[in-house]
Amino acid sequence: MDKILILDFGSQTTQLIGRRIRDLGVYTEILPGDSPLSAVLNPGGGPDTIRGVILSGSPESVYENGPAPDKIIYGCGLPLLGICYGLQRLNYDQGGAVEALSKREYGGIGVTVRREKREEGRAADRGVPSNWGLTQKFLAGFDPAAALRPAANAAAPSVSSPPPAAFHFTAWMSHGDTLTRLAPGLREYGTSDTGYPAVVIHDTKPWFGLQFHPEAAHCEQGPEILAAFVFGVCGCSAGWTMERYVEEARLSVRKKVGTNPVLLLISGGVDSTVAGALLLKTLDAGAVHLMYMDTGLMRKDETKTVKASLERLGARHLHIIHCGEEFLSALKGLEEPEAKRQVIGDLFITIQEREVARLGLPDSYVLAQGTLYTDLIESGQGVGKKARLIKSHHNVGSPLVDAKRKAGRIIEPLDRLYKDEVRRLGRVLGVDEEVVRRHPFPGPGLAVRILGEVTKEKCGILREADAIFIEELKKRPAPGAADRTLYDEIWQAFAVLLPIRSVGVAGDVRKYGWVLALRAITSADGMTAGVYPFPVKDLLEISSRITNTVTDIGRVTYDISSKPPATIEWE
Ligand code: XMP
Repeated sequence: MDKILILDFGSQTTQLIGRRIRDLGVYTEILPGDSPLSAVLNPGGGPDTIRGVILSGSPESVYENGPAPDKIIYGCGLPLLGICYGLQRLNYDQGGAVEALSKREYGGIGVTVRREKREEGRAADRGVPSNWGLTQKFLAGFDPAAALRPAANAAAPSVSSPPPAAFHFTAWMSHGDTLTRLAPGLREYGTSDTGYPAVVIHDTKPWFGLQFHPEAAHCEQGPEILAAFVFGVCGCSAGWTMERYVEEARLSVRKKVGTNPVLLLISGGVDSTVAGALLLKTLDAGAVHLMYMDTGLMRKDETKTVKASLERLGARHLHIIHCGEEFLSALKGLEEPEAKRQVIGDLFITIQEREVARLGLPDSYVLAQGTLYTDLIESGQGVGKKARLIKSHHNVGSPLVDAKRKAGRIIEPLDRLYKDEVRRLGRVLGVDEEVVRRHPFPGPGLAVRILGEVTKEKCGILREADAIFIEELKKRPAPGAADRTLYDEIWQAFAVLLPIRSVGVAGDVRKYGWVLALRAITSADGMTAGVYPFPVKDLLEISSRITNTVTDIGRVTYDISSKPPATIEWE
């Protein structure tokens, strides 16, 4: 299968580059930007072939010892695409100059791209191997009239209708440094309206650079530019399909598990449920043990929904542990978020070990986890140590997981997938739509959404209010999209119970009710998030239904903070 390798120098949008290219049907892999690559690059050979390398952006500066790639990439002959810092890195490493701008270029900024006349640009005419053909294929990505097609020549300009000599479009920029002298061989094909190099291409080598972010949603021609690189320049074919993934994942699960039993810890979320479905559709259901802990910190009806959907998928050994009382008594009196997390994490491990021992599985059992690709990448700092980050507090430092990993008895069949791909996989495997489209839910559950001390009473209040909020989102159509609801438009929505009571009136009496905050965000992966811009009418109606139904809540507010600077959860 053709692959594009992405070197991550720490940009917030590296994951997005991967997502966008996978959306084109091409598999991507992300490595820390400074990884040694001699064992990874395989130009022209093998079933899994890297066809091109993308150098990501970075918050750092090349002239201040910013992270650098293994120099091997400049000699391996593979096409390179430098994005923002990636372009500055390429230019600097090849002898060009990069300096700080007096004013950052940020946001939507116009760019003019010129197609050079053939005579000027054609190095072959001067007896030098030319990059002219690939350059044309790349530049076709800037042409609004060119189709975005997954074929080797898709981005090639049509011969019968010559493309225009220049294109103007709005790019998305975020950089404080610029190229002030181009390295030998690099040529400027595009310039920002503010006068700086925006598109740079090498005359003789397949090296391309953009001083903007084609992966950003607001970048005009963004997907087309990436497609021009991936299909036109790198010649990738679109072989990344969910059916293929299922086939490969099932083979690998069978091989790793053999005849041993498997234990999967189910959280109730999309990831572990889809991992469960994959196991149940791959192995003998009698060998698949699913363990789910009801911590008492779950959403309304969560345990019921999880049980029903797993049973529909054929689960025979579903172990549901009701341990709400244990969690609530351990949390008694605790107000500090970190202290609450610590207690929940520790107790989780204690109960997990106790209950797994109670199952009496043989030592040879294999532990399965619903770890995703994004869980394995250190968020926003892909340089340096590539920590194998663990999904949630459930598993952090868990001796059980550590021991199984050491013994090589762990499988993570979703570890090459992004969240939205897991949803697609869930649909292919027949997981209930209700579960597949479910918003993410944090491991420590309602404990991070009840600020201050967690009590049974507060859990009950929050659960009811949250359920109303979610129910309303599921029945309200999204503006301008009749077949989608607000719930589908929003990446994550939930209610938060604040540790404040505020005055109100009930009949003629003054009454102090709890304050509830509603949170609804848009996001690609949870690493950054925007506020969902609700139609006011929806907010007013939802708020009024909550205060009318959950009488302990006196006031409802809407959180209008993006991430950063805020986080998604309130803790
Ligand atoms: P923050 O609050 O860090 O959340 O912006 C980012 C995303 O992660 C989820 N989250 C968690 N998920 N265990 C999890 O499995 C956790 O401990 C945890 N804390 C936050 C959060 O809901 C959001 O989707």
